[in-house]
Amino acid sequence: MEGGWPPSGGFLLCLTVSLLVQGRANTFTINCSGFDQHGVNPALFQAIFNQKDFRPVVNYSIPTRVNISFTLSAILEVNAQLQLLTSFLWVKMIWNNPFISWNPKECGNINKLAVTAENLWLPDIFIVESTDVEQIPEGLSAYMTHKGDIVYHKPTRVTSICSLDIFYFPFDQQNCTLTFSSFIYTAENMLLGLDREVWEMVDTSHDIARTQGEWELLGISKATPKMFVGSRLFDRIVFFVAIRRRPSLYIINLLVPSSFLIAIDALSFYLPAENENRAPFKITLLLGYNVFLLRMNDLLPASGAPLISVYFALCLSLMVLSLLETIFITYLLHLATTQPPPMPQWLHSLLLHCTSPRRCCPTAPQKGNKGLDLTPAHLPGLKEPGELVGKELGPREAERNGGSGLTRAQLTDLWMQFGYMIDTFLFRLYLLFLAFSISTVIVLWNT
Ligand SMILES: *[C@@H]1O[C@H](CO)[C@@H](O)[C@H](O)[C@H]1NC(C)=O
Ligand SMILES: *[C@@H]1O[C@H](CO)[C@@H](O)[C@H](O)[C@H]1NC(C)=O
Ligand SMILES: *[C@@H]1O[C@H](CO)[C@@H](O)[C@H](O)[C@H]1NC(C)=O
Ligand SMILES: *[C@@H]1O[C@H](CO)[C@@H](O)[C@H](O)[C@H]1NC(C)=O
Repeated sequence: MEGGWPPSGGFLLCLTVSLLVQGRANTFTINCSGFDQHGVNPALFQAIFNQKDFRPVVNYSIPTRVNISFTLSAILEVNAQLQLLTSFLWVKMIWNNPFISWNPKECGNINKLAVTAENLWLPDIFIVESTDVEQIPEGLSAYMTHKGDIVYHKPTRVTSICSLDIFYFPFDQQNCTLTFSSFIYTAENMLLGLDREVWEMVDTSHDIARTQGEWELLGISKATPKMFVGSRLFDRIVFFVAIRRRPSLYIINLLVPSSFLIAIDALSFYLPAENENRAPFKITLLLGYNVFLLRMNDLLPASGAPLISVYFALCLSLMVLSLLETIFITYLLHLATTQPPPMPQWLHSLLLHCTSPRRCCPTAPQKGNKGLDLTPAHLPGLKEPGELVGKELGPREAERNGGSGLTRAQLTDLWMQFGYMIDTFLFRLYLLFLAFSISTVIVLWNT
């Protein structure tokens, strides 16, 4: 019996309807002679229109089968913060009304007739995920075929809940569900079916889609699980709508500028370290990057932690690290030129070892050698003791300098050499880290 009604009421209703139908027309065939000359006689359909409040079946134990399909004509909005998908659907429903039939041969070959939908019984099928009351335009019509099939199209704007995962933003795909189900008719009274194959729905949606917006339809798949609400079983059709974001806007506005800034930051290591331009340059870059982040904030999804935010944070930290490195090197070089501290013996031998022609360790970049002439051959070392004559420090100072017997100028040179070495080493570390983190992000995006 019908969903919520008590069994006796349903039985009475059955009886009434069958009596009504039996009384109005013995067979359910409509006599439509004269349709082609005088137009449709409304009196002939009045009996059917009068029954529109009740489900049109001859025997109430027979479920009404409603076949559904839809065309996704536009994806209007995807709101990651509220987890909502707003789309525009043209929903098509077909069901059979056994009280309507006529013989087209007798009726001037009229196969189908359009009739105002409010004169007909309409199935109460809704979209489970919808968060909004459906606003259906008034005065919609439906087709009746001579076999009694009712074809009803309704355009609907659907705001549906969709679990959106923006981790891969802007290369993300979303899989939203649209579940069609009846409010009151259980599976005994109403069965749902597909009117078209899903690939046909995808094809028409692609043909119809006029928007070149941010989202494009990837595909639709379906499942037909039944659903228990309490003890009552409802038939459902679940459509999985897969959509993909078009990333070009974000690539141009977010990824490219950010990559340029980080590339300039990396290249700024080639600015001479002893020159005082490097730190201000990096600070300017950092400021520029912050301005960029501020401006781009409204392009980013408002909630969640997408990978791209991690990428931006990474770029920012790399810039901060490179600024810190520059400050450290500048300090080291400043210390070397003003008051070089004594150099530990191990550091001295390491420096000598590294600047020897075999070059096992990273050496100072060429930029440092111009003014200071610190090619390995000119490095002060124990090999050329003759050159050191005359610059020898006093015994007390020599003791203070670690007992290596170096002049102050040589110590300065050594410390500067050390500073350049550290600079190069940290630069390579920076490049390594940059390459590693960017490839990690890219690999994550591709999975
Ligand atoms: C249909 O109605 C016309 C008169 O309106 C009548 O002449 C004709 O016999 C009827 N046909 C059938 C099949 O009942
Ligand atoms: C209605 O259908 C059920 C099952 O198909 C059947 O048992 C019952 O006799 C039918 N009732 C009538 C009045 O035809
Ligand atoms: C609904 O679909 C089923 C199977 O695809 C088909 O047998 C049935 O005739 C359709 N019903 C209508 C009213 O088109
Ligand atoms: C969407 O999700 C459902 C269930 O989680 C799955 O069956 C379906 O294949 C998915 N669709 C796509 C296109 O990934």
